[in-house]
Amino acid sequence: MVRQMGVEQFDGDWLALREPFDAMARNPDIARALMDHLDEKGRPRFLDLGAGTGSLTRWLGHFVGRAHAWVLADADAELMARAFDTMMDSAEAIGWRATWPQRKVLLLHPPEGAWRIEGILTNLAEAPDGLPLENVDAVTCSALCDLVSEAWVVRLAAALARRRLPFYAALNVTGQERFMPPCPGDALVARGFARDQRRAKGFGGMALGAAATDTIARVFAGHGYRVLRGASPWVIPRQAGEMAYELALGHAEAALRHERRGEAQIRAWAETRADQAEAGRLSARVGHQDILCLPG
Ligand SMILES: C[S@@+](CC[C@H](N)C(=O)[O-])C[C@H]1O[C@@H](n2cnc3c(N)ncnc32)[C@H](O)[C@@H]1O
Repeated sequence: MVRQMGVEQFDGDWLALREPFDAMARNPDIARALMDHLDEKGRPRFLDLGAGTGSLTRWLGHFVGRAHAWVLADADAELMARAFDTMMDSAEAIGWRATWPQRKVLLLHPPEGAWRIEGILTNLAEAPDGLPLENVDAVTCSALCDLVSEAWVVRLAAALARRRLPFYAALNVTGQERFMPPCPGDALVARGFARDQRRAKGFGGMALGAAATDTIARVFAGHGYRVLRGASPWVIPRQAGEMAYELALGHAEAALRHERRGEAQIRAWAETRADQAEAGRLSARVGHQDILCLPG
């Protein structure tokens, strides 16, 4: 297993569990606006930052409707390997052929034109250094920008503006989370979770957390970009017990990092939420926003 120092780690099983909820949440109007912008590109090329297991490609690729190419960028070699395996499995499950014209290039063959997928292992803390911006038509990401710092967005925006590249960032947290039914400890957990969202996550400064979309909008607008935003909340129904449970556990673990004096109450909260999830009585709504910045 290859891991990089200082890089926030994500569990592949958690990314797989959330993938259908991500897919239902992402805003299709914002995705279509990106595709309209790329209309004149014969075979658009996308660079997906923090691609993880490739969840965004599997969703956004269906909006392209013709041959196109992806470069998946991530620091985690294990997630990258899983991205290619999952990409092949899900393509074959819907009857698309998968071929390897080169050792590190996967081609999927839907009827409307091939998807070319390759990966680069890189620490995005250094971005835009090391990114193949000369060879892409759009830069994308999903569930990444609440981890990064404002300085990181400033550097990336300057680099994209020089090349007039669009930037699409899906699933940025808004800070509006709600578990149902209400439970003692909700406010404490929410406060600790919100503090954890600003913890530095390896991108050279405090993480943007719920300030991500406002920051991206302001910085890109400063370069003359037109900015579109759309809601993309996770809606976790009572029947989705495993997702609701993992979500609550993640909130409790994050809150525990910051609310040491409230530890007993947070642990009791997590136990209550686990019981509710198991009994099919826990639902949740987590606010997100998708944002698209188009060069003017
Ligand atoms: C929340 S996950 C999102 C994954 C994927 N985009 C999705 O929507 O499922 C964040 C991703 O960013 C990657 N990441 C975090 N910090 C990174 C860094 N400094 N350099 C490269 N990748 C990083 C993680 O490995 C992980 O795959």
